[in-house]
Amino acid sequence: MCGIVGIVGREAVAGRLVDALRRLEYRGYDSAGVATIHGGRMDRRRAEGKLFNLEKLLDAEPLPGRIGIAHTRWATHGVPNETNAHPHFVEGVAVVHNGIIENFSELKDELLSEGAVFESQTDTEVVAHLLAKYLRQGLDRRAAMLAMLNRVAGAYALVVMFENDPGTIMAARFGPPLAIGHGQGEMFLGSDAIALSPFTNEITYLVDGDCAIMTAGGVEIVDYSGKPVQRRSQISQASAFMVDKGNHRHFMEKEIYEQPEIISHALSHYIDFAANTVKANDTAIDFGKLSGLAISACGTAYLSGLIGKYWFERYARLPVEIDVASEFRYRELPLSPSQAALFISQSGETADTLASLRYCKQEGLKIGAIVNVRESTIARESDAIFPILAGPEIGVASTKAFTCQLAVLAALAVGAGRARGTVSAEQETAMVRHLAEMPRIMSRVLNEVQPQIETLSRDLSRFKDVLYLGRGTSYPLALEGALKLKEISYIHAEGYAAGELKHGPIALIDENMPVIVIAPHDRFFEKTVSNMQEVAARGGRIIFITDEKGAAASKLPTMATITLPNVDEIIAPMIFSLPIQLLAYHTAVFMGTDVDQPRNLAKSVTVE
Ligand code: G6P
Repeated sequence: MCGIVGIVGREAVAGRLVDALRRLEYRGYDSAGVATIHGGRMDRRRAEGKLFNLEKLLDAEPLPGRIGIAHTRWATHGVPNETNAHPHFVEGVAVVHNGIIENFSELKDELLSEGAVFESQTDTEVVAHLLAKYLRQGLDRRAAMLAMLNRVAGAYALVVMFENDPGTIMAARFGPPLAIGHGQGEMFLGSDAIALSPFTNEITYLVDGDCAIMTAGGVEIVDYSGKPVQRRSQISQASAFMVDKGNHRHFMEKEIYEQPEIISHALSHYIDFAANTVKANDTAIDFGKLSGLAISACGTAYLSGLIGKYWFERYARLPVEIDVASEFRYRELPLSPSQAALFISQSGETADTLASLRYCKQEGLKIGAIVNVRESTIARESDAIFPILAGPEIGVASTKAFTCQLAVLAALAVGAGRARGTVSAEQETAMVRHLAEMPRIMSRVLNEVQPQIETLSRDLSRFKDVLYLGRGTSYPLALEGALKLKEISYIHAEGYAAGELKHGPIALIDENMPVIVIAPHDRFFEKTVSNMQEVAARGGRIIFITDEKGAAASKLPTMATITLPNVDEIIAPMIFSLPIQLLAYHTAVFMGTDVDQPRNLAKSVTVE
């Protein structure tokens, strides 16, 4: 989603603004722009496509100036071209925006009837026109900003600069995040602390309904009526992480290979390895007393929640209601305060997940957040925070966040089972031992399967459609496998519960649609093998992802069999995630797609 940066600095800002935009590239975008004020004149450069294009423009025609704002745009209203790229200029007002102005067409009609001329197809331009109108009516800049904020509806992070005030940037937040960075005689703002990490780690997060007036000397924060509000600054962890690819070709590859180390770090937060027990965590939610659990999330985070449902129900005998957040938020699901709700989000900013959280809060439920960004909105609005400790995930396709979410959910489910008396001390010890072994097994699998998967990916890249099948916790993995492959390689892929094969997808089986079967030798194995028989009988090609026992037990011909070590059920989803991620990754690399920033996708989805 759109990325925003602003600097009121002591020295030239254009280069630093583009550097900061680069740190926001992971969010996904299709055009970019920057504006500065110099010598009483506001100027901008904007370009379609990647930042490289914007940099070329800046090299040819540099933008001097010690104050500036910049933006990467993920198109919502209007195609991604230069005219629709931000900043938008109207009569000495510059605006960049992340989100959607929901009443933009009504505001646009009003402004058009008053003679405004619109250059772009964006919703953002109404903000610049509204501000220009209020300034023309004689309001001062601050009053114009507040008047504008009281007119616009929707979800937005807005940043504004005025040509006749080269010392101030104004910003407002209602939905998508905005972080203010405190420097030495300079101030910064950005969509997240990662963008600002080269400049400062002292961060103040705006909350919904805040308007910030930022100068080089500091920031004043008021509400939309102009009343001052106090927001404390904090030291962000973002700068503690090196956000680069190291020796890897892509962030996604780096993040796949980081998993053993990162998951062991995440587990140590939840598990006492010496005692072989799950640690008592955030106690705001008492899993022992719950009548049920509601889980909501989007995308890959939703699929980790779906695996979590199997675990909470099986190990803790806790019924789980789960849905994608975009449905959950509107379902008017009857809930009771004896239940708790868990929201899973890498970014902690996903608009639909946040709306679902607020619905559950209103219904009186205790709220738990399984998040990667601990300072995020979802974390801040929750009673209990369960960090996944994956470090910044830059690749748009989630990998390490997924397996860390799973590790946290597994630990929580085992802990809940203990609290509810459905997991004995011996069972807890056994499961914790398996979890503790996981990083080592992950390393081994990553090394062992990589060459085979790279070769297989060449074959897979020739196909237009792929079907993934799995049962039990391998069913959400089948969904995740299909999601991963389609989002980065653009090959059409679908995930199905293996038992559903005969209720529809079997009609598609032929030699042109490989079927990837995910089947560890667990209690469902025989049944899944029967489904494989059905595929083989119809001339389908099978890619079999199984373990040593499974490979020995099945005699069916396959296009390829990827054999993993035999592992316990509780860690199988994390281990089996690895070949699925590598298969999608290498297929995409082979096809030459933009692996880290696939077309049309965004890392942090702050609009509905
Ligand atoms: C986007 C990303 C996915 C992610 C989903 C939910 O679609 O591309 O990788 O799973 O949003 O994001 P969240 O930050 O809430 O986990």
